[in-house]
Amino acid sequence: MIKIKSERELRIMRQACVIAASVLDELCQMARDGISTWELDQAACKLMEQHGSRSACYKYKCGSLRYPGYVCLSVNDEVIHGIGRKDRVLKSGDIVSIDVSVVYQGYVGDNTRTVMIGEVSPEVRRLVETTEKSLYEGISRAVAGNRVGDISAAIQKYVEGAGYGVVKEFTGHGVGRQLHEEPEVPNYGRAGSGPLLRPGMTLAIEPMVSMGSPDIRMDSEDGWTVYTLDGKPSSHSEHTVLITDSEPEILTVLK
Ligand code: MF3
Ligand code: CO
Repeated sequence: MIKIKSERELRIMRQACVIAASVLDELCQMARDGISTWELDQAACKLMEQHGSRSACYKYKCGSLRYPGYVCLSVNDEVIHGIGRKDRVLKSGDIVSIDVSVVYQGYVGDNTRTVMIGEVSPEVRRLVETTEKSLYEGISRAVAGNRVGDISAAIQKYVEGAGYGVVKEFTGHGVGRQLHEEPEVPNYGRAGSGPLLRPGMTLAIEPMVSMGSPDIRMDSEDGWTVYTLDGKPSSHSEHTVLITDSEPEILTVLK
C-alpha cells in the first residue's frame, strides 16, 4: 500500500525535509581537501541534533547488521552506504556522495548530493553533472496521473543517452514515517508501467550512476559499502519529492 500523506503529515514532512537539506548543505560546505569522512559523520550527528532531529540511518537494520554511521559517505568507486572513517581523508580530485536522512517529529526527509573536491577531471565532473540532471529529469515526471515507470524511464534514458549506466540493485523509495516505504522507485524501467502516482505521495528519487559498468560488489568486511565492480567512479543524487495536483514539489530544499 502506498501511503497518501495528510496535510498535517505534510506540514511535518516539509520541516523534516528542510532540515535534511540544511544538514546536507552544511556538510557539503565542510567537504574539502584534508577532512576525513569520519569528521563529516561526527559533524552530521551534531547538526542533526541542533535541528531537533536524528539520523534515520544510524542503527538502520539490514539482516543482523546495524548501520554504524549517521550519514552515508561514499567516495569515488563507492556507490552508496559508505561509512565515515578516520583514515578516509578527502583529497583534490575525489568525489564524495553525502546521503543525509533525518527523522523529525516522526517523519523522514532524505537527500543526497555528490561533492567534487578541489580540481576534478572533466570526465568525473560530467558524471556528477549528468547524475544531477537525471534526477531532475525523473522529478519532472513525478506528476499525478503518471506512473513510477515514467520517472524510472526518464532517468534511465537520460543517463544511458550520456553514455553511462544506472545501478539496478538499489532504488529510490517512498518515504514518510519510515525511511523506506512503498513504492520502490527504480532508476530503470518502462514508461507507463508500475504504480500510479497520486497527490500526497512522497518519494525519494535517487539515481546512482556509474562511469563504467553499473555492476557492483559489496564490501566483505563492513557488510554495507557498495562499490562499482570495475573500480570506476560513481555518483549519486537524491531529493524527496511530493506529488501534487500540479507540479512536483521538491521538499528537500533550503528555506
Ligand atoms: N538514504 C539512504 C537510502 O535511502 C539511507 C540508507 S540507510 C543505510 O537508502 F543504513 F542503509 F545506510
Ligand atoms: Co533514499
